[in-house]
Amino acid sequence: MNIQELGATAEAMVADHKGLLAADESTGTIGKRFESIDVELTEANRAAYRGLLFAAEGLGNYISGAILYDETIRQKAPDGTMMVDLLKKQGILPGIKVDAGTKPLAGAEGETVTEGLDGLAGRVDEYVGLGAKFAKWRAVIDIKQPGIPSRYAIRVNAQALARYARICQEGGLVPIVEPEVLMDGDHDIDTCAAVTEATLVEVFHELYEQGVQLEGMILKPNMVISGKLNGSRAGVEEVAAKTIALLKRTVPSAVPGIMFLSGGQTETEASEHLNAMNGGSDNLPWTVSYSYGRALQESALKAWRGKVENIPAAQQALLQRARLNSAACEARYLAEVA
Ligand code: 13P
Repeated sequence: MNIQELGATAEAMVADHKGLLAADESTGTIGKRFESIDVELTEANRAAYRGLLFAAEGLGNYISGAILYDETIRQKAPDGTMMVDLLKKQGILPGIKVDAGTKPLAGAEGETVTEGLDGLAGRVDEYVGLGAKFAKWRAVIDIKQPGIPSRYAIRVNAQALARYARICQEGGLVPIVEPEVLMDGDHDIDTCAAVTEATLVEVFHELYEQGVQLEGMILKPNMVISGKLNGSRAGVEEVAAKTIALLKRTVPSAVPGIMFLSGGQTETEASEHLNAMNGGSDNLPWTVSYSYGRALQESALKAWRGKVENIPAAQQALLQRARLNSAACEARYLAEVA
């Protein structure tokens, strides 16, 4: 394991107030996004859409890396350029989703475990050959009554995350460790905090047990936030304060960066929360940034609607969100939108 190199890549991912563009939707998930704008789910449309995102001129000023899906890392944009080369031209590091999604967890009704460990070392070698510098694996923890999440589901998901992370580091990819506590449901913010804390404690225990080098990884957690259907959702300052307090208790300072997922927050909410976290304290032990999917793409997707003539507007929408989230990394978001 070359820890110097892994550490340098992880540092580069969070340098200069930049964040990640999560564009690694599986074919099924991007299908849902396309359905919302009445665009057919074809290979050509997926290439057109991802191609326009990666070619948005100036994206590299705000985005350090893009997470790709298996199809995309092998794919050409409509103009014939490899997607990976579009990114490299802008100084953006290519990354790759390597998990195979969630599957029902035997022995835990209503819960899931993320699969994809079989043959992973071989796939990591192949992705390194295709230009990937980092990888992503998402574990999903749902909050449901009664008794969900179980300790068992948290534990097996943490074990899989750590095995994935170790395999990636051995193969030369920086692992993004993503344990996502979902914001679906009507739970309150303190329930989210308790479940997120239990999850992160277990994840860092397993990372230790399996010898993962914390200096060469990135954590991609959820924020501590009220459930979407909660009747009195916590405000921006409370989300920021509770998220940072919890992360200080659970995430060792050797981890170079915490890059949040947006998880169904609106674009504005995701920016405001990131801004408040970076504005609330001068001396955070890790760099706090973003790795947003929906909260970077939603306006761009709506502007595009599958039409060539809308590409410039869609690119502008993406650049605008990326610029604002990078401003939020410096606690300058409110000044930018004022
Ligand atoms: P969202 O920001 O839309 O949650 O997507 C990020 C991601 O990569 C989820 O795995």
